[in-house]
Amino acid sequence: MGTEASNRAWQFTPDLSYCSVPYRLKLEDKETMMAKATNYDVKDLSLAAEGKRRILWADHDMPVLAAIRERFAKEQPLKGRRMSACLHVTAETANLCRTLQAGGADLVLCASNPLSTQDDVSASLVQDFHLPTFAIKGEDRDTYYAHIAAACKHSPSITMDDGADLVNALHNEFSDYAGHIIASMEETTTGVIRLRAMEKAGALKFPVIAVNDAATKHLFDNRYGTGQSTLDGIIRATDFLLAGKTVVVVGYGWCGRGVSTRARGAGSNVILCEVDPVRALEAVMDGFRVMPMRKAAAVGDLFITVTGDIHVIDKPHFAKMKDGAIVCNSGHFNVELNLDALEKMATKVNRGVRNLVDEYVLAGGKRIYILGEGRLVNLACAEGHPASVMDMSFATQALTTEYAVKNAGKLTAVVHNVPAEIDQYVSRLKLKTMGIAIDKLTAEQSEYLSSFEMGT
Ligand SMILES: NC(=O)c1ccc[n+]([C@@H]2O[C@H](COP(=O)([O-])OP(=O)(O)OC[C@H]3O[C@@H](n4cnc5c(N)ncnc54)[C@H](O)[C@@H]3O)[C@@H](O)[C@H]2O)c1
Repeated sequence: MGTEASNRAWQFTPDLSYCSVPYRLKLEDKETMMAKATNYDVKDLSLAAEGKRRILWADHDMPVLAAIRERFAKEQPLKGRRMSACLHVTAETANLCRTLQAGGADLVLCASNPLSTQDDVSASLVQDFHLPTFAIKGEDRDTYYAHIAAACKHSPSITMDDGADLVNALHNEFSDYAGHIIASMEETTTGVIRLRAMEKAGALKFPVIAVNDAATKHLFDNRYGTGQSTLDGIIRATDFLLAGKTVVVVGYGWCGRGVSTRARGAGSNVILCEVDPVRALEAVMDGFRVMPMRKAAAVGDLFITVTGDIHVIDKPHFAKMKDGAIVCNSGHFNVELNLDALEKMATKVNRGVRNLVDEYVLAGGKRIYILGEGRLVNLACAEGHPASVMDMSFATQALTTEYAVKNAGKLTAVVHNVPAEIDQYVSRLKLKTMGIAIDKLTAEQSEYLSSFEMGT
């Protein structure tokens, strides 16, 4: 158990570079945060009924997770384990939380992004599933970090992150809660990159498991989930017609592949921007036009960033854009667009010209539209990934949590991969729930593939 907040030394560490948003807690904030971090903090409990309907609807499309939940309820593999999760608070996440609770975990949930929370879901989690939840859509920066403080104060022995903000807090402001953590699961690409950087610098204090890097996560969630839900968010926010438009996708990683392929399927003329020559070449051979951002800026109708990198659309790019260009981010937090620069360039900013759409008017009258304040457009403007794909990501999360508990004390303070057997199991079960059978290796084939003595 961590010591009580009031007795803890409160110290600032100069390096908060792992923080998504450069931010340092003020000394006077701490008391407020600790006071808030008691039970739950959600927008409105009267939204619970609608939240519950949506959680159960999503559950229909999450059969693998449901099967794991059934087993967890019988076997109680997480019994008595204090857990804190910092995730996008969506209907799918709610079903993951139900699974961890069924396994016996004493769980607390906070938001991993100020705009991704579904307020009806957080209400239902508190009211119907008795889960202490700290998440309000549109929460300000202080509240966001107060909610992370609440998750730390729970004194978890296992954590779950989507972007490493909780791990970051446990390494800095709340480091006195880090001592007894047996493992932390990381859900997304950027989080894994940061955690590997921490490992390399010798700064990682406890074991981390890179759930993002599991095949059953990034191959499906990043590609098909982000691919579909990003376009869904853009369409809901703007009523944009994809057919015939020039769509610029920045980053041809797993998310970029998904977004660009789906935009092309809907009739858009898709341009890719990359910095990695291998990925750029792959985009060329997949049939996309590839060019630097400074050229693409002048021709795009819609811009989507999915890089995990900072300021990939910056002042010179905004300066070149056409009147009416729509710009959004589906990569990391709110850092991919340089909105401070855009704000300085603007003569006027009209907030909320449509729900979650801000209009920046530049000198000469040119208008640029930013969706969801530059935060993840699929979560800010839509509902995140479809449940069917989150079924695999969260089944992998649940099984990896069980693995971490079984291996408590054996994992070292580095970034670990998810065991291959978990990927195999989740894929097999997903195929089964889809009614799809596959072939099995014969004994002869197994031998052939594993030996070098059988000749050519
Ligand atoms: N919106 C969501 O729900 C969601 C879901 C999964 C992942 N993500 C996030 O999306 C981001 C991308 O994830 P991924 O799995 O595709 O990562 P990835 O590493 O596979 O791909 C990122 C690509 O961006 C490129 N890139 C980096 N800087 C660039 C720049 N300045 N200009 C052009 N290209 C640049 C890289 O070379 C790389 O090919 C990450 O931040 C990840 O955390 C978001």
